[in-house]
Amino acid sequence: MNVLVAGGAGYIGSHTVKRLKAAGHNPVIYDNLSRGHRSVIEILQVPAVVADLNDRASLLEALRNHKIDTVMHFAAYAYVGESVHQPLMYYQNNVATTINVLECMKTVGVERFVFSSTCAVYGDPDKIPITEDEKKAPVSPYGRSKLMVEQILADYAASDPKFKFAALRYFNASGCAMDGTLGEDHDPETHLIPVVLQTILGLRPELVVFGTDYPTKDGTNVRDYIHVDDLADAHIGAMEKLQDGKPIFCNLGTGNGFSVKEIIATAEKVTGKKVPVKYGPRRAGDAIALYANPARAKSLLGWEAKHKDPETIIRSAWNWFENHPKGYKS
Ligand SMILES: NC(=O)c1ccc[n+]([C@@H]2O[C@H](COP(=O)([O-])OP(=O)(O)OC[C@H]3O[C@@H](n4cnc5c(N)ncnc54)[C@H](O)[C@@H]3O)[C@@H](O)[C@H]2O)c1
Repeated sequence: MNVLVAGGAGYIGSHTVKRLKAAGHNPVIYDNLSRGHRSVIEILQVPAVVADLNDRASLLEALRNHKIDTVMHFAAYAYVGESVHQPLMYYQNNVATTINVLECMKTVGVERFVFSSTCAVYGDPDKIPITEDEKKAPVSPYGRSKLMVEQILADYAASDPKFKFAALRYFNASGCAMDGTLGEDHDPETHLIPVVLQTILGLRPELVVFGTDYPTKDGTNVRDYIHVDDLADAHIGAMEKLQDGKPIFCNLGTGNGFSVKEIIATAEKVTGKKVPVKYGPRRAGDAIALYANPARAKSLLGWEAKHKDPETIIRSAWNWFENHPKGYKS
């Protein structure tokens, strides 16, 4: 298939482009590089359009010129804290921009859409592991922006039976390409595994752990870490399963929860180095434990995570961080 990967120069998008190419599809990167990397385009060697998704002329041209069948939409702002301080920017880029993408797709007749949603749509769940039927009560503008898009997609699909979509709710994307070609380079970096590895590399003075008195196995927060290549493969599975009149809403997680302390201990084991840790108070807004019930992804997409242990995930990340301590060249 010819796949427009919106946000393809970013972390998860770039890994998906690589897997799409390997699976024999024709990915085209579409990215304004506001948070992505030019180096990714050079590494991946696929057609790329450097433009904003709100630039209708560019987007229409890209959809037509590359005879796009499916849009995978990774492009968004994705920092919970930033979204609290700049909600309008989040609703503009995550919601309004997506409407623009859908309108351009409609104009050109592109009917297949795979959307990057998030476990943040659940907020603080009542029941763990989280199923897709859990209440949707996001606690940040970021989470609300993703839930709004899910609702827009459902309404649009109900109005147009030819429009097919999957909304994939990722848990904690982590790790890097197994062959070391692609990595994780966010600025600022807020995700636990890269922050731990940057601390080990001496790029940060210490790692602050927020809260040690949670009702979990060791008092620290528990999350579901899913390897980025597994996420990428789930997108390909979802794209192949899209059907008229059957919207897909799916969790993408491993089903296992690991605590902050377990991640630190695993990183120390993988790298053979100690992490300087400072234990601080709880941080507002952090849920106690979030991990997925991944059963629906298995039954609907025929997908399950291959890398379920944090050691493999951290090893793949360390392989990249050790060789790219300053991230991508550009
Ligand atoms: N990283 C995670 O753990 C995680 C978890 C759940 C959901 N998600 C979602 O997955 C998606 C990808 O996340 P990521 O970590 O790869 O983010 P990222 O910031 O690395 O990638 C997003 C890409 O989109 C591009 N972009 C943003 N706005 C654009 C616009 N208006 N026009 C063109 N390009 C634009 C950026 O330049 C960037 O390359 C996001 O939608 C995010 O909300 C991520």
